[in-house]
Amino acid sequence: MPKAAAVHYSCTDCGYSAGRWLGKCPSCGSYGTLVEDVLSAAPAAAKVPPKPVLRLVDVDAEDAERIPTGVAELDRVLGGGLVPASLVLVGGEPGVGKSTLLLTALAAISRERRALLVTGEESTAQVKLRAERLGGAERVEILAETELDTVLATLESERPDVCVIDSVQTLHSPEVGSVPGSVAQVREAAARLLRTAKEAGVATILVGHVTKDGTVAGPRVLEHLVDCVLQFEGDRYHAHRVLRAVKNRFGSTNELGIFEMTGTGLQGVPDPSEVFGRSAGSEVGSAIACALEGTRPILLEIQALVAPTDLAMPRRVATGVDPKRLAMIVAVLSRHARIVLGAADVFVNVAERAERRQRRATRPSARSGSRGGSVRPRRPSAGSRSARSSGLPPRLRRPELPPLVAN
Ligand SMILES: Nc1ncnc2c1ncn2[C@@H]1O[C@H](COP(=O)(O)OP(=O)(O)OP(=O)(O)O)[C@@H](O)[C@H]1O
Ligand SMILES: [Mg+2]
Repeated sequence: MPKAAAVHYSCTDCGYSAGRWLGKCPSCGSYGTLVEDVLSAAPAAAKVPPKPVLRLVDVDAEDAERIPTGVAELDRVLGGGLVPASLVLVGGEPGVGKSTLLLTALAAISRERRALLVTGEESTAQVKLRAERLGGAERVEILAETELDTVLATLESERPDVCVIDSVQTLHSPEVGSVPGSVAQVREAAARLLRTAKEAGVATILVGHVTKDGTVAGPRVLEHLVDCVLQFEGDRYHAHRVLRAVKNRFGSTNELGIFEMTGTGLQGVPDPSEVFGRSAGSEVGSAIACALEGTRPILLEIQALVAPTDLAMPRRVATGVDPKRLAMIVAVLSRHARIVLGAADVFVNVAERAERRQRRATRPSARSGSRGGSVRPRRPSAGSRSARSSGLPPRLRRPELPPLVAN
């Protein structure tokens, strides 16, 4: 008699699995992220014959030509284009522009190769409307499907060069008992897509959602499985977006892609210094710093504001820069330059000098006295000098008050 399906509890953030429900995930320490997952009983293992092993010298390997995506900033982050038969995961918060970026890339790829979009979130008509806004993508093939087996069978028979799955959370396999978007479903979908990508030679890009409350299985459970993990960051209320590689088996993780969201789609920003480091003459309280992101130098404007305070503990507010480094600079100024800052608040900010876009009414305004502009601290990419020295924040924002420095 077959065994009953086992009930497990999996962490939606890191994929940790436990036999009982726990309030706090023992692996990543998140609270309330363990959700029920029903795993099918594994079939009894049959005895399999061993396979002969090879010496590396006997392995035939040719450096496959990369597939240019037609989006220069995306190619830069991928390390020179898409590697055929690779699996890439693009993660990002809702509305950041993942579908827009990938449809733009598919439209360019489809001019010379077969490009397929599997959409589980939007209807074909919605995709067509977006494609028209982006300037047309007539040659892109589209499949509106959420059944994993159907998607895999289509990939095997059609064998496109590039396929985008938007999103991996919508794929569903009836063999796995849990609901679409659960850790077990997402992991199953990614594992089977990986196999198909390698066997059928389809470069596959998975779109993965990152939700703030972590109720949907996030892409973190897939990071080990895929060849490349790209993170699309930014603020949907501001124009600039940053694409960075968190993991890349075929290239560096130091490169950064910068985009601007416009009415006609995402435009690459080939010279970010023009946007982030443009300073109007000799502005008080602002200085230009040069940061190296991968192979690209970027000029950033650093702003400082020192204001007298009545607080017993003066504030040291660092936005986009390391707060410890700010505290050290304040200490050095007090000790060696005899600039006493013990009775002053100090604010330091990495500024975005780009065009100001309409803010939401709910956002604090400059007149209300709030500085706003606080950002999540940026996760430094390995080996990135700028990440430590200047820290281009993931949500680039324009300062809300003109910079001032006390004497
Ligand atoms: N007509 C437009 N003009 C300018 N920007 C637009 C326009 N339409 C959409 N956008 C931008 O595109 C963003 C949505 O892009 P997109 O649907 O690609 O995001 P997504 O990351 O795929 O979102 P989701 O996770 O919901 O699928 C909006 O937040 C908005 O900034
Ligand atoms: Mg989308």
